[in-house]
Amino acid sequence: MPDFELKGLTAASLDSQKCDALVVLVTEQDAKASFLKGSQMGPVIAQALAHKDLSTKPGSVLSVYSLPGVSARRLVLCGAGDGGPRAVRQAVSAAFAALKGAPVSELSLFVGGISTISLEPAVMAASEASYHYALTRSKPEATAPIGLPQSLKKIRLIVPELRAFKQAFERACSLARGVALAREWGNRPGNHATPSQLAQAAKDLVKGTALQCEVLGPKEVRKLGMGAFEAVAQGSAEPLRFIVLRYQGAPKADAPVVLVGKGITFDTGGISIKPAAEMDEMKFDMCGAASVLGTFRALADIRPAINVVGLIPTCENMPDGRAIKPGDVVTSMSGQTIEILNTDAEGRLILCDALTYAKRFEPRAVIDIATLTGACVVALGGVRSGLFASSDALAQALQAAGDSALDPCWRLPLDDEYAEGLKTNFADVANVAGRAAGAVTAAKFLQRFVTGMEWAHLDIAGSAWKSGGAKGATGRPVGLLVHYLLAAAEQRTPTVPVKRPALKRLPKPTVKPATKSA
Ligand code: BES
Ligand code: MN
Ligand code: ZN
Repeated sequence: MPDFELKGLTAASLDSQKCDALVVLVTEQDAKASFLKGSQMGPVIAQALAHKDLSTKPGSVLSVYSLPGVSARRLVLCGAGDGGPRAVRQAVSAAFAALKGAPVSELSLFVGGISTISLEPAVMAASEASYHYALTRSKPEATAPIGLPQSLKKIRLIVPELRAFKQAFERACSLARGVALAREWGNRPGNHATPSQLAQAAKDLVKGTALQCEVLGPKEVRKLGMGAFEAVAQGSAEPLRFIVLRYQGAPKADAPVVLVGKGITFDTGGISIKPAAEMDEMKFDMCGAASVLGTFRALADIRPAINVVGLIPTCENMPDGRAIKPGDVVTSMSGQTIEILNTDAEGRLILCDALTYAKRFEPRAVIDIATLTGACVVALGGVRSGLFASSDALAQALQAAGDSALDPCWRLPLDDEYAEGLKTNFADVANVAGRAAGAVTAAKFLQRFVTGMEWAHLDIAGSAWKSGGAKGATGRPVGLLVHYLLAAAEQRTPTVPVKRPALKRLPKPTVKPATKSA
């Protein structure tokens, strides 16, 4: 990620700002007034608008080279609509698209006419456009076109007045770093993002921060009785990991929010094997886990007054001589037995044990995030994540967070009738129902394991990554989660401290690097 910097400049001094490219957002409001008065750019923009070479519509772009009196080599004028979050995001994306491949190492972005709430989408869109996956390319520079985004070292956001934008800027940068981390881990291939490597990423993440991380291996997971999680992992040569992250920003006695991220580092489907086409995309089946890592990255920076626990059950779902078979019955940590009718419905199996584990934290809310069902992709596509919630209040909080972060979700139902299909003659519950309402029946399965807790489930199967030419992780729903946690931290009114029973101590982990679950 390039360095971000915030700078306060007047319109006149903007002309002498040295950089390879200067992006200027032009809102409808700007177009009406005498925009950039005192700058050489003012009359040029006015003319361009008058001749309709530039419009204030978000997405409209006009590039100018070496304008007399302006130090920036390239100038990119962008329509920014009403200057609201959505329009600004679109404008900044369009500016970066126009600069793609250009030899730009320092870029300045003048966002004079926008409100403080639009600074975050400006930073996020700039960060998104300058992210570049390089880990498994032998020569990152040579294999991809020279110039943007690889060449970009610094992005300077220029505002008319520093003070009003400072806090928004810092938060936005922290959030952008969290999203970038989630994207990076989401994008890594299955052989470069194994459960052990994901656990190492969590350990690296907490270094030098106020975060804590504990990693459990097969032995501890066995001891905890996580028979469902263990069952999924048993078909893989890679040992499972159970990652526990903690952020304490509020007094110890404050009930935490627990985030649970699905961390299937590759989902072949197991014995109920998936078709070959697009199976590579199942490397993204740990995007829920990646979003938890990304959220903790942001928490470590922003330090809101809230306690948060992150739980990541992570393993591969593989076919093997030892793999679970359709019809196998396993016992979950909750004591409920599960008939595994389809080994491809593995996400709910690893999540149910993590949700049971979450109970020991007596959370104020537990939220799981999972690339859980293809049915959710059918229902909502890549625009909104699926949301299920045990209470209207939690649903509303998450919906509002998604809207404000431009990372939206949509609530789906949890009527008990949807659980009918999960009945079986051979166990307490089956892991699949019929084809109908697949995203809902998956949520109904999870709901059996969260009794007594405020719970929400985000199905990010459609939103966590893009397919086709733009194939890659999106980093969603880190924006939604961070906005939710920041709002929850604010909303907490300091009352008389409630005496809560002491938390059970976590078992001390003794993880050997490569012990395979027996
Ligand atoms: N990881 C998949 C869900 C998925 C599939 C996400 C395609 C994005 C695109 C999950 O483990 C899975 O395989 N779910 C099954 C459940 C079914 C067997 C009830 C599915 O959706 O097909
Ligand atoms: Mn699956
Ligand atoms: Zn899966």
